[in-house]
Amino acid sequence: MEHKELGATGVKLPEVGLGTWQYRGSVEPLKKGIALGASFIDTAEMYGTEPVVGEAIREERDRVFLATKVSGNHLRYDEVLKAAEQSLKRLGVDRIDLYQIHWPDPGVPIRETVRAMETLVDSGKVRFIGVSNFYLANLKEAQACMAKYKIVSNQVKYSLLNRGIEEDMLPYCQANQITVIAYSPLARGELASRPLLKHRDAFNILQNIAHQTGKTPAQVALNWCLSRPNVVVIPKSDKVERVAENCHASGWKLSREQIEALNRAFG
Ligand SMILES: NC(=O)c1ccc[n+]([C@@H]2O[C@H](COP(=O)([O-])OP(=O)(O)OC[C@H]3O[C@@H](n4cnc5c(N)ncnc54)[C@H](OP(=O)(O)O)[C@@H]3O)[C@@H](O)[C@H]2O)c1
Repeated sequence: MEHKELGATGVKLPEVGLGTWQYRGSVEPLKKGIALGASFIDTAEMYGTEPVVGEAIREERDRVFLATKVSGNHLRYDEVLKAAEQSLKRLGVDRIDLYQIHWPDPGVPIRETVRAMETLVDSGKVRFIGVSNFYLANLKEAQACMAKYKIVSNQVKYSLLNRGIEEDMLPYCQANQITVIAYSPLARGELASRPLLKHRDAFNILQNIAHQTGKTPAQVALNWCLSRPNVVVIPKSDKVERVAENCHASGWKLSREQIEALNRAFG
C-alpha cells in the first residue's frame, strides 16, 4: 500500500481507505482492509456505521486512521461538540483522527462551526479538521476562519465518471496542500461491473487497459484517481474479496499513455 501525506501534516495516509456509507458487512471486510494496509476508515454520524467501525478497530486502534463527520444539520457550536461526543461513544475511542464537516450549511456562519472544530482539537478529542462537499468558495471561507489550525482535506465526489473537481477544486487543493478524499471513486460500482449503456465505449477502453495491466476494471479506475497528486480514494465494499481487490489498486502505476487514454475516453 502506497501512502500520501494528509494535507501538510506529515501524517502518511494509505492512498486506499475504506468507505462505509451503506456498509452492510460484518467486521471482517474492514479487518481484511486494515490487514492489507488500508488502515484509513471513513464513516459519519449519519451513516449508522460508527458502531461496526468501532468494533472492527477495537484491537488495533493505534494502527488505524479514523475519519468521521458531523452532519451539515449540526453545525452550531454546541451541536458540533455534542455530535463529536456521540461519535466518540459509538466508535468506542477517545480521539477522532480526522473530523469532517459533512456538508456546508448556509444558515450557520462557518466561523461558528470551525470554532467548535478547533475547540475539539484543543481538547485532544480530534487530531485534524477536514470538510466534505465544500465548493471552492466554501473551502476558502472556512480556511480563512481557522484561527489556530488548518483544514487538511476536502472529501468530494471524484471518479472517471465524475470529474467536476478538475476545473478548480483539484488544482486549488494541489497548490495548497489540501488532500482530496475521493468519494464514490467507483461511481457507486458502475466502474467496477455494470456500466450504463451510454458509458459502454469508455468502459471498453477501461476493460482493455485492465487486460493490458493484468488488473481489474475497478483497480484501474481507482489507480487512475490515485495518479492525481493529493488524491486518495475510499471505495466501499461489504465483501472481503472486493476489499482485497480494491486494496490492490495501490502499489503499481498506469503508464502515462494509459492515463491519457482514460482521460480521453471518459472526458
Ligand atoms: N462525504 C459524502 O457526502 C459522501 C458521499 C458518498 C460516499 N462517501 C464515502 O465514500 C465511500 C465510497 O463511496 P460509495 O460507497 O458512494 O461508492 P463506491 O465506493 O464508488 O462504490 C460502492 C459500490 O461499488 C461496489 N463495489 C465496491 N468494490 C467493488 C469491486 N471491486 N467490484 C465490484 N463492485 C464493487 C459496492 O458493492 P458491494 O459493497 O456489494 O461490494 C458498492 O455497491 C462511502 O462509503 C463513504 O464513506 C461520502
